[in-house]
Amino acid sequence: MTEQGGTGPVTAWEAIASRRDVREFARRPVADSDLEQILEAGRRSPSSRNTQPWDFVVVTDPQQLASLAKAATGGGGPAPPPVIIALIAPGGERRQRALYDLGQVTMSIMLAAAGLGIGSGHASVTDQDLARQVLGFPEDRSCPFLITLGYPVGRPLAPIRHPARRPFAEVVHRGHW
Ligand SMILES: Cc1cc2nc3c(=O)[nH]c(=O)nc-3n(C[C@H](O)[C@H](O)[C@H](O)COP(=O)(O)O)c2cc1C
Repeated sequence: MTEQGGTGPVTAWEAIASRRDVREFARRPVADSDLEQILEAGRRSPSSRNTQPWDFVVVTDPQQLASLAKAATGGGGPAPPPVIIALIAPGGERRQRALYDLGQVTMSIMLAAAGLGIGSGHASVTDQDLARQVLGFPEDRSCPFLITLGYPVGRPLAPIRHPARRPFAEVVHRGHW
């Protein structure tokens, strides 16, 4: 896979092995058609009883991007990313269950992006008031996470041979603990 993506079909495994949290993005914009596909991957995510308890706010306006980065930890390095997808969750009793579903949305979005050679990053929202001010979501919703998107500065996405993870044999238990 190259920075450009589009070098032919990328397997699910290649996308999984290439995805990493990108924290510094190039200025290069993300094509609308790629962004549509990434959002569609999120929309297709599974959810408990197919409740789909999510909304996505896509942000590409530079001023909004800069403000949003202040509402979160890890908003994309020294410069704002070219795109942020804000994940909006319901409030009240539905919130806790929705967080699992939002996790699945996140991974679908990130893998779809990786398949296109586009980097992504997580950011946890720490200032709900600021996020609400920028995005305008209703009082009964919250924005727990942002997904940052764009082309990585420096190292393009490519399969990672030795990811920083606990050893396979320590994590995987066969038949019993
Ligand atoms: C729920 C969640 C929240 C995260 N929040 C942040 C964050 O606020 N800032 C950040 O830089 N990284 C954040 N991360 C990224 C993790 O630190 C990262 O995924 C982990 O270190 C593994 O690295 P990798 O994604 O490059 O494989 C978050 C990840 C998850 C799953």
